[in-house]
Amino acid sequence: MANVAISELDKNCGKVVAEIVKLERKIFPKHESLASFFENELKKKNSGLLYLHVDGELAGYVMYSWPSSLYASITKLAVKEQWRRQGHGEVLLKAAIEKCRTRKVSCIMLHVDPLRTPALNLYKKHGFQVDCLVESYYSSDRNAYRMYLDFDSS
Ligand SMILES: CC(C)(COP(=O)(O)OP(=O)(O)OC[C@H]1O[C@@H](n2cnc3c(N)ncnc32)[C@H](O)[C@@H]1OP(=O)(O)O)[C@@H](O)C(=O)NCCC(=O)NCCS
Repeated sequence: MANVAISELDKNCGKVVAEIVKLERKIFPKHESLASFFENELKKKNSGLLYLHVDGELAGYVMYSWPSSLYASITKLAVKEQWRRQGHGEVLLKAAIEKCRTRKVSCIMLHVDPLRTPALNLYKKHGFQVDCLVESYYSSDRNAYRMYLDFDSS
């Protein structure tokens, strides 16, 4: 059985950050990628990142932030292609939700391209609801659903 471990990023660990940036560049198109400002994003006091190793190899990560006491955000979630459909995305999302919950916010917001069916299904499975469609969110021809998970009603 595979050995799965989830860890919280030590923001000073350049080696892990570099590995995540590499994966980010591979998975997301340039206009959706955080790669170029990943390190700055991580320097923010109110952000965190959890990553998952399978048999010692980086398999996925989730990034989250809590910009205010009102809400938190899931800013990125990704699983390496060969490790998909094995429950790792779900493990990462659940762990990020619990991290956000400890910040005593009342909801979590996120944006997702409606065409990203796996991600959309995953978020819905964990109670996220579509709030609205934000046109041209990622680029002139790519929209996003804004989704939220309300802690007060859960
Ligand atoms: C979205 C993503 C993180 C899911 O990771 P994963 O490890 O494959 O997901 P899991 O195996 O934990 O699946 C959990 C649920 O997600 C949904 N899901 C995952 N893959 C799916 C697919 N190919 N088709 C439909 N639903 C899917 C299902 O609801 C699934 O639950 P189920 O197994 O009970 O049907 C992964 O597909 C990915 O990295 N995609 C590219 C990046 C991306 O779109 N990120 C989100 C936007 S920021």
